[in-house]
Amino acid sequence: MSTVVRDSLRAAIARDSAATLMARCAALAACTDKPGEILRTFLSPAMELVHERMRPWLKSAGMEVSVDRAGSLRALYPSQAGLDAPRLAIGSHLDTVPNAGAYDGVLGVLMGLALVEALGGRRLPFAIEVVGFSDEEGTRFGVPFIGSRALVNRLSDALLLSKDEDGLTIGDALSRYAAAHREAVDPLLDPRTAGYLEFHIEQGPVLENRNLALGIVQALAGQSRCHLVFHGRAGHAGTTPMQLRRDALAAAAEWVSFVERTALSFSGLVATVGQIAAEPGGVNVIPGVVRCSLDVRHADDAVRSHAVKVVLDEARSIASRRGLSVEAEEYHTQSAVHLDPTMISLADSAVHQAGYKTMRITSGAGHDAMVMAEHMPAAMVFLRNPGGVSHHPDESVLEVDVAAAVHMGLHFLDEFAVFLEKKESDRLA
Ligand code: HGY
Ligand code: MN
Ligand code: MN
Repeated sequence: MSTVVRDSLRAAIARDSAATLMARCAALAACTDKPGEILRTFLSPAMELVHERMRPWLKSAGMEVSVDRAGSLRALYPSQAGLDAPRLAIGSHLDTVPNAGAYDGVLGVLMGLALVEALGGRRLPFAIEVVGFSDEEGTRFGVPFIGSRALVNRLSDALLLSKDEDGLTIGDALSRYAAAHREAVDPLLDPRTAGYLEFHIEQGPVLENRNLALGIVQALAGQSRCHLVFHGRAGHAGTTPMQLRRDALAAAAEWVSFVERTALSFSGLVATVGQIAAEPGGVNVIPGVVRCSLDVRHADDAVRSHAVKVVLDEARSIASRRGLSVEAEEYHTQSAVHLDPTMISLADSAVHQAGYKTMRITSGAGHDAMVMAEHMPAAMVFLRNPGGVSHHPDESVLEVDVAAAVHMGLHFLDEFAVFLEKKESDRLA
């Protein structure tokens, strides 16, 4: 079959699979822990429902389907030599932030399924493992990447002690899950896994501004997550003179404005206070305690850690100036990650073979590829995100761009086969 014919066939297959993928994203959007919005958290009933919906799709694509003991969905497509072969893992996460969109994470898992289906039964010299990670956002426990960390044995004892709002630790949640899912498999990745590929919406405006369907991720910004607690003194809102107050919310508010000013003063730095709660929370009570979060990101780890130090030091000086105290803890640190140059060039060449232009892009968002990249060559492909809107119900993706991703993905699989073959012949030489 000539390249032109093969490619127009691939483009047609890609268009069909894109339509199916969009419909599946809509179907999975109905799997939620909170009616009226999309919310799926670690090991929740909505996540079970997603597994239930996806199982038949994966099975009819010729895949062996299981869940692992960390709650991730695992599906294996055998190679020409069965499962005793190198593997390519293709995945993303199935959990969401509160009031999420319908594509963040889930699109990447469905892309893995779409590529296997697009093979139409053709076996490759490597097996494909499609992974739907159980937690990437950290919505339930605050700490992200529980699913992917389980695959690479990075669930530290300290991490397992993280608690959710009911006081249950990650360790307890995992033991309960394993007891209720006796069939669950060991999460550890097969040592023959030779690479990881993740498709994800960009969650930003860059590709749209450049009028590009696809972007090749070269690096992902590092991130710090902190808890802060401002301790003041609760009091009567009507009888306590302003000068005598130790208002925890007024202190926190002064600090939040400082965080914003600091982020604006460092190019490429972003800092967000996404959660804040005042206690006791009465309209006529001066807040005595305020608990808040802090999320700081930058492509350069030194800039990020300096900025975290600056804003936490300022929290302490605001507190002492106002006669309060403050507890501040950085509980999650993920260094910036540069993806594998070979995998990046395979992705680049696949995009061009499919007839698309692209660009290299740095991700401000965190992704499971950051965790996987520390253990194997990894590549990430971004899809244009109209309006750059994400972590919001208006999040969207264009079906035509999904078709572009499937089309390039099929070329990537061919490229990866050649890459593995060369790696093997170099090894034997
Ligand atoms: O927060 C992030 O960067 C990602 O959406 N988990
Ligand atoms: Mn997200
Ligand atoms: Mn995501």
